[in-house]
Amino acid sequence: MDLGLNNKLVLVVGASKGIGRGIVKGFAEEHCRIVAIARSEDLLKETGKEACDAGAAEYHYEVADIMECNTQELAHRLIDKYGAFDVVVHNVGTSLVSRNHLGPAEDWFHALKLNAVAAIDMNSVLIPPMIERKSGRVIHISSISAKMLRGNPLYASSKEFLCAYVTTVGRQLAPTGVLLCSVMPGAVAFEGSYWDKFVKEGHPRVHEFLSQHQAVNRFGTPEEIANVVLFMASSKSSFMQATNIPVDGANM
Ligand SMILES: NC(=O)c1ccc[n+]([C@@H]2O[C@H](COP(=O)([O-])OP(=O)(O)OC[C@H]3O[C@@H](n4cnc5c(N)ncnc54)[C@H](OP(=O)(O)O)[C@@H]3O)[C@@H](O)[C@H]2O)c1
Repeated sequence: MDLGLNNKLVLVVGASKGIGRGIVKGFAEEHCRIVAIARSEDLLKETGKEACDAGAAEYHYEVADIMECNTQELAHRLIDKYGAFDVVVHNVGTSLVSRNHLGPAEDWFHALKLNAVAAIDMNSVLIPPMIERKSGRVIHISSISAKMLRGNPLYASSKEFLCAYVTTVGRQLAPTGVLLCSVMPGAVAFEGSYWDKFVKEGHPRVHEFLSQHQAVNRFGTPEEIANVVLFMASSKSSFMQATNIPVDGANM
């Protein structure tokens, strides 16, 4: 299937590791022009080498911490430097936030900002030029936790908030030509991931988790998430507005 992504200008926020890096590689294989954001410059350079080897039309990176910087200013700077984006992928997020369900608002704000609101703030700047051009794709990486609502309550609630944002705002955007959607991954493993060390140790938690929660009985790969993101980013997704798609090996 020709996804028609050749030469598209793609922003990936949270691009240096894991799923985000897999997404960059996927867009590189489609010969896109990629702008990658993360905090670690050395990893962004490694990602760039991989992307160029895979066929990226262009690869640029910007070192930024979206929890520390003014995210609207960052978005303005990116547009001034690179132009309006065809595709934006927001991948930053983690379940490794406070697990204290009776914790203070500060903990909840932190989890919400990291998993949803920092990206939403960037969208306030990145989406209007897409509306003007009557075309664009904004894809968030949520989590199947948003649907199953178990595990860390602060993480699951933040991702559920993100999915609600995608549904409600995605409907508003649907007539404009801008498609807002998300992927909800199940557990994904890769070198350096949360699960990686348990897999390498042959830890019993791995069998326990997979047999109880992931019917496919294995972890997903960044590439399996990237494949769906690429489809969403293409014109082939033209009837998929405001949707949150599970890619989770039959999470249960
Ligand atoms: N892995 C899973 O099993 C799984 C399952 C469901 C959903 N998800 C979701 O998928 C997304 C990616 O997960 P992952 O496991 O691949 O995460 P990861 O390995 O921790 O990678 C996160 C990426 O975001 C960047 N990042 C983190 N904090 C940042 C910040 N403050 N500012 C800018 N960049 C930042 C990281 O690079 P730097 O450290 O260099 O900044 C890295 O490139 C997350 O939203 C996660 O919630 C993952």
